Amino acid sequence: MTETISKGVANQTGAVINKDAFAEAKDFLPLNGIDHVEFWVGNARQASAYYRALWGFTPVAFSGLETGIRDRASYVLRRNDITLVVTAPLTPDGEIAEHVRKHGDGVKDIAFAVDDVTASWRETTSRGARSAMEPAEMDGGEDGILRRSAVFTYGEVRHSFIDRHDYHGVFGPGYRRIKKPARAAQGLSLLEIDHCVGNVELGDMDRFVEFYKDVFGFAQLIHYDDKVIHTDYSALMSKVMTNGNGRIKFPINEPASGKKKSQIQEFLDWYLDAGTQHIALRTEDIVGTVRGLRENGVEFLGMPHAYYETLADRVGDVGVPMETLEVLGIEADRDEEGYLLQIFTRPIQDRPTFFFEIIERHGSRGFGVGNFKALFEAIEIEQARRGNL
Ligand code: FE2
Repeated sequence: MTETISKGVANQTGAVINKDAFAEAKDFLPLNGIDHVEFWVGNARQASAYYRALWGFTPVAFSGLETGIRDRASYVLRRNDITLVVTAPLTPDGEIAEHVRKHGDGVKDIAFAVDDVTASWRETTSRGARSAMEPAEMDGGEDGILRRSAVFTYGEVRHSFIDRHDYHGVFGPGYRRIKKPARAAQGLSLLEIDHCVGNVELGDMDRFVEFYKDVFGFAQLIHYDDKVIHTDYSALMSKVMTNGNGRIKFPINEPASGKKKSQIQEFLDWYLDAGTQHIALRTEDIVGTVRGLRENGVEFLGMPHAYYETLADRVGDVGVPMETLEVLGIEADRDEEGYLLQIFTRPIQDRPTFFFEIIERHGSRGFGVGNFKALFEAIEIEQARRGNL
């Protein structure tokens, strides 16, 4: 299954890295970054409390019955450059209720900040994206005008395009500021979204790699094949897409055949569609942050003692004692450019679907390929507990 990409070089882990990805990315669709990520959930009020009390997000805006919105309730949560929105249906009918009934809680929208929502929509739809929302000006009265459009990507996930240049309100028309939010958890370093990973059906990875190339002008940064990412039981393949300024990084995974069920297949079986598997949040203090998150009740995947026995030989000095990494369950990896520290939560809702990653980068722009095998073995232990291996 190994494949090389133009000018790609395989490093010692077998990952094929395209050093020219940023230059190859096309600039017909300038994206300033990720504006926000919206989750559709069963209970937005309680999801909001979860992000506040466990993750230290401040609820900054609300939309619902009290703001004249009759079909949904939304809370906007912010921490540094990360904005999350949790939205729940208020009635049994409609697309949000349907979505939650089928998928459980999950990511609905990975929204981009852009300068021109009309050009973004025209460029992407003319290249084959399916429209989710035609360009619209949303009148916020004194707060100005928010411009918005959207297209679909894998599964039922959308990419909205948001232009806030002429809008000065808290999040968008229909939202009101939460003036005295309850105190959020303290002492956590969660700075920005590092990458968002999509899981797609077997055989669809290349289709969505081409989709991000053709429709969004992204380039392929890395290819991990099933020789790299496999255990005795299961495997997956992954390609990482990036935009020209490198701010957007989207790995796309598909399951690969193995003796037992891939964790990607487990996701697909329970989400009942392609969807966003995890979002990585960048930290500059993974030790303090994971310690705090654990105290607050966030559950992380455990790594076996054997992983830490050989870790120092593999990655050298990573600025944190190996014992500390082991106590907290943090993993480390090193490549030609530097090292990274990372950790993965357990799924954050009842279904074994979406989870978070916390990542601290010291030069490395990779995704922790050296940890994939140990990580997937840890996930397989949990899959077996769930009866899903
Ligand atoms: Fe990741």
